[in-house]
Amino acid sequence: MELNNAIYQRRSIRQYKAHTMTENEVLEIIKAGQMAPSWKNSQTPRYFVALSEEAKAKVIDALADFNKERAQNASCIIVTAIKTKRSGYDTDGTPATHLGHGFECFDNGLATQNICLKAYDMGYGSLIMGLYDEKKVRAIFGIEDDLAVCALVAIGKADICPDMPRRRALEDILVIK
Ligand SMILES: Cc1cc2nc3c(=O)[nH]c(=O)nc-3n(C[C@H](O)[C@H](O)[C@H](O)COP(=O)(O)O)c2cc1C
Repeated sequence: MELNNAIYQRRSIRQYKAHTMTENEVLEIIKAGQMAPSWKNSQTPRYFVALSEEAKAKVIDALADFNKERAQNASCIIVTAIKTKRSGYDTDGTPATHLGHGFECFDNGLATQNICLKAYDMGYGSLIMGLYDEKKVRAIFGIEDDLAVCALVAIGKADICPDMPRRRALEDILVIK
């Protein structure tokens, strides 16, 4: 599939139809995340994937109410996390830039976009979710304190074909000199 198709046609999918995803497909998707650039190649994103019905039910229970219905029937839900105090930091643990810990989520976002585009390329829709009960999510997978839980990503067969939400005009977001 053309990269352009994935960039322009991918949409956030908020309704899925039941479909079983294989573990190999999960690996393929996570490998695409691994290919993302990262601060000094620090590769700080980590992934916890709910693939069984039991694990998915637990993660869905941890989602914000309005996301619970949206993630129903997802084939898997990926919890993305990041090793803290590494991306954007000097080796002595001090922030190396004015963004402080901002590059941690930056690296996670790059990897997450790769994941969504790869999923699209494999015929899956995706939904990034930022609202959930962090303590519950940590408990499900036993996520240690040295990781910050970041976005959750539902992936599955789309049961709808949404229009693209309006984008701002280029002149609103761009300066060229
Ligand atoms: C960090 C982040 C958090 C998001 N959280 C949610 C969410 O909790 N629930 C939801 O339905 N969509 C969520 N979205 C999806 C956005 O609403 C969506 O990307 C945006 O409306 C543009 O639509 P598109 O992805 O179809 O282009 C999130 C997106 C990002 C990047």
